[in-house]
Amino acid sequence: MPLRYINRKMRTFNVIWIGIGFFFFISCSQNAGIDNVGYVLELPAHFPKMDIPLDNPLTPEKIAFGKKLFEEKKLSGDGTLACISCHDPKHAFSDTVQFSIGVGNQLGERNSTPIFNVGYHPAFFRDGGALTLEMQVVAPIENELEMNANIAEVCLLLDQDEEYHALAKEIFGTEFNPNVLSKSLASYLRTLISGNSRYDQYVLGDKTVLSELEKEGFDLYDGKAGCFKCHDGFDFTDYTYQNIGLYSEYEDLGRMKLTADSADMGMFMVPSLRNLSYTAPYMHDGSLSTLEEVIDLYDEGGKGHWNQDFRIFPLDLTDHEKEALKAFLLTLNDESFIKNN
Ligand code: HEC
Ligand code: HEC
Repeated sequence: MPLRYINRKMRTFNVIWIGIGFFFFISCSQNAGIDNVGYVLELPAHFPKMDIPLDNPLTPEKIAFGKKLFEEKKLSGDGTLACISCHDPKHAFSDTVQFSIGVGNQLGERNSTPIFNVGYHPAFFRDGGALTLEMQVVAPIENELEMNANIAEVCLLLDQDEEYHALAKEIFGTEFNPNVLSKSLASYLRTLISGNSRYDQYVLGDKTVLSELEKEGFDLYDGKAGCFKCHDGFDFTDYTYQNIGLYSEYEDLGRMKLTADSADMGMFMVPSLRNLSYTAPYMHDGSLSTLEEVIDLYDEGGKGHWNQDFRIFPLDLTDHEKEALKAFLLTLNDESFIKNN
């Protein structure tokens, strides 16, 4: 079965950038930079090359610094939350609740996304609201429902810490500033590669790793159930925005929140289907808690929203076919990713 690579043209971006002010802030504070290159990102043989921004090459020091920052609670307004609080490595960097709890026990508005293979994403957040990883990583810090802090203040605070100050000087040649923060975090996240599931081993030539039931599920995925029409390519997403008819009326407008275009009503970026065993609950609002519920929704053909994609229609799957489809989805779990991070 040949792997399909991303072959659909991305919809034209018409995005209102969140954090646009911040973007200008970091552009103005670019430093001369001591860029010690020398890190080779190891990618599975069947993954495409990852584009790394020229102004933020990967280095082992920066990646390690990014990991440290990812675990740093001082990034939140009241010092109680780190990135890792909502992006737990044991859950493929997502969490287990429907809506993540931010500082002061505030409830977020969306389900936390897992983080892997994000260096390939053409946009970030479920509605594509951030265009680069460097911009994305700082958004949660200022989001009042998440970390509710002020970036400039956080950076001043960290710059007063001897170790952070010294590391920023050593790696970037400056004091600890927003540029240091965003580039380090983004570098770390680019190294979170998941591509060693049993499915990957199968694609790479080991035809013994999938059971008959799982292979049957694969055929359904690629055939009758039509999942590949959106969950396509090496990461099981074509990175487009779609309305799958999760509701007949959406509370969360999805991409329309950004574009104010009703054609985007209820549209969310197609998520990867890797590591589903670790990332429940599912969907933008975590409203489905099991894969059975997800498969039933698709089998039923969605709830019939007026903007629902035409590729979502009743599938008439038998119980056995549903079981096979689920078995296939579970072959996309990458245990080594969970163990090694
Ligand atoms: C309070 C919980 C919470 C905290 C803390 C948090 N996040 Fe998130 N994160 C989320 C939620 C919820 C989303 C999905 C939001 C959306 O799509 O609208 C998300 C999305 C993301 C994404 C998008 C991934 C993708 O595929 O588009 C990245 C990357 C990310 N967060 C990184 C971080 C970093 C870095 C930090 C720390 C600076 C952080 N997060 C802190 C809850 C949190
Ligand atoms: C028309 C495009 C499309 C098709 C076809 C499609 N999906 Fe999806 N899928 C999506 C989108 C978009 C989402 C996110 C929806 C949301 O968050 O509201 C999604 C979400 C999911 C999720 C939840 C993942 C998570 O991390 O939350 C699973 C599981 C899933 N789909 C499996 C399937 C299966 C199995 C099939 C085939 C029966 C399928 N999809 C067919 C577009 C599609």
